[in-house]
Amino acid sequence: MLTSSNSERLTATGVVMDFAGLRALDNVSLSLGRHEIVGLIGPNGSGKTTLVNVLSGALTPTAGTVSIDAENVTGFVPRKISRAGLVRTFQTVRLFGTLSVFENVQLGAFGAGIRRAQATKKANDLLELFGIDHLRDVLGDSLSYGQKRIVEILRAIATDCNYLLLDEPAAGLNEEESDKLLGQLSDIPEQFGCGILIIDHDMNLIMRLCQRLHVLNQGKTIAEGTPKQVRANPTVVEAYLGSQGATDATEP
Ligand SMILES: Nc1ncnc2c1ncn2[C@@H]1O[C@H](COP(=O)(O)OP(=O)(O)O)[C@@H](O)[C@H]1O
Ligand SMILES: [Mg+2]
Repeated sequence: MLTSSNSERLTATGVVMDFAGLRALDNVSLSLGRHEIVGLIGPNGSGKTTLVNVLSGALTPTAGTVSIDAENVTGFVPRKISRAGLVRTFQTVRLFGTLSVFENVQLGAFGAGIRRAQATKKANDLLELFGIDHLRDVLGDSLSYGQKRIVEILRAIATDCNYLLLDEPAAGLNEEESDKLLGQLSDIPEQFGCGILIIDHDMNLIMRLCQRLHVLNQGKTIAEGTPKQVRANPTVVEAYLGSQGATDATEP
């Protein structure tokens, strides 16, 4: 779905990221609209998290540019990137354990400068929409792993972001939880005008959820296309799908 113009896209162009002697990203270009879900896949160590770190401002690329809605944001600190409309989650859950579910989600809205009355409404609406109002007053620490994942995503959406980067949101979830997450994520772009870039090793989830896939191997783009095209691509099968990669979710 390539309907939005450059003025409403997250775009990485020719991104290179070097770590002392290692080229973790080598000329990677990718873009994400506000109404689509793009999957970022590839074997462990292929550069997926590094790309998310570059896009979200945690790392400044060695070369290349990142732009959000046609504004060049390369080298911006994460806080400025999130103000430009991009929010990410991490491979490990980062919730406030001593705050309730409601407070955690509300805090996302506060962090984005949304006023109290509106933030409260926003948090209430999101909890209802995702069917977790019954967890409203439960403390972060008391949630199951799967519930924590959802709350973390809701906290991100509460910021009114336009681009959401999810680094392995289904890691550690059982099949039922993972299915539920899939259903909940699939409505987000249309409902909130918020595009999703998702990293996950659960190929079942990725193939069903994403309109497009971007495949990395050793820091390079080896394929791009629809799930169907990517699944049929011999290079991808050899580098990732046919090997351990498709079922491996053991990275920390
Ligand atoms: N901060 C860092 N310093 C040095 N090397 C790093 C750093 N972050 C990632 N790497 C290396 O970059 C490569 C890509 O890592 P990463 O982006 O985490 O891969 P993925 O998320 O696809 O598993 C790996 O070889 C990893 O060891
Ligand atoms: Mg990673």
